[in-house]
Amino acid sequence: MQYMVNKYLQYDIYNLDLLTYAGDLTKHKEIESRDNYYFVKADIADREAIVSLFEKEKFDYVVHFAAESHVDRSILDPSTFVRTNVLGTQVLLDAAKQIGVSKFVHVSTDEVYGELNFDPTTFFTEETPIKPNSPYSASKASSDLLVRAYHETFGLPINITRCSNNYGPYHFPEKLIPLTISRVLNNQKVPVYGDGRNIRDWLHVIDHCAAIDLVLHEGLNGEVYNIGGHNERTNLEVVKTIIATLGKSEDLIEFVKDRLGHDKRYAIDPTKLEALGWKPNFKFETGIAQTIQWYLDNEEWWQRINSGEYKTYFEQQYGA
Ligand code: TYD
Repeated sequence: MQYMVNKYLQYDIYNLDLLTYAGDLTKHKEIESRDNYYFVKADIADREAIVSLFEKEKFDYVVHFAAESHVDRSILDPSTFVRTNVLGTQVLLDAAKQIGVSKFVHVSTDEVYGELNFDPTTFFTEETPIKPNSPYSASKASSDLLVRAYHETFGLPINITRCSNNYGPYHFPEKLIPLTISRVLNNQKVPVYGDGRNIRDWLHVIDHCAAIDLVLHEGLNGEVYNIGGHNERTNLEVVKTIIATLGKSEDLIEFVKDRLGHDKRYAIDPTKLEALGWKPNFKFETGIAQTIQWYLDNEEWWQRINSGEYKTYFEQQYGA
């Protein structure tokens, strides 16, 4: 949101958010009084609210980020994921079709492709078959297919983006990197699933914003673009890097029961997006150092989350 509001002073930019457990308006303090920024609290699955908002504002572009996104929560309760990610996407597609938007960008995930093996020469491309393994990735894959169908059937101008794992400031502490940073800073054990050898490809949030901006303005109608930056690390490498940067002991690592259906490896071949003019600016080493510094500088933000309703989820997920 900050990226677009700062860059496109000539656009009126609407932030539509239901402010569920991970929603947080304090992160938009810097832009909240700008003339080109508007906030609307609404549920994307609420057809009446969404259709009447779209008819009133006649948006030119829709960039659809609104989703339940945490795999562990989708294992605890898949139904919320179907409601928001599948039904919510269909409502947005109907509303966009009704007013005739110029572009609908659907922000998805590489997890829809399922998992890769540990052969470092294999990558997800846009041609890789969809084969999701978790309720989360199945709900995102379903929404991707609806977006494709609205393009093929109704001619809605669309792009689908599939990114690797994001990291950076204001990341909700349920995800591996902010969870590790905040727990290490509190001298608490860091739960590592299984043997910690699963691999993720890390994408800095600013590199992700630049990619979405490019796809919104230059993406070829109907195309899918993968977004990832050849920053593969095992989970154990990520956790050890954070512990070392903060000067703490690896005794904080606690191997716990593996996640159900835990995908071994994700890695993206970004050739198609690079041909459009994108390349990642962040190397993982620089990005993670800056991210750790951000959490050090903004302790009040994440300590508040860790002591609120998130605590109940944490106990349910990991045990007291
Ligand atoms: P996560 O941040 O949940 O993203 P995703 O599941 O979408 O990749 O997890 C990243 C990796 O870290 C994944 O392999 C699971 C692992 N992980 C742990 O080992 N412990 C944890 O407490 C969490 C949240 C994740």
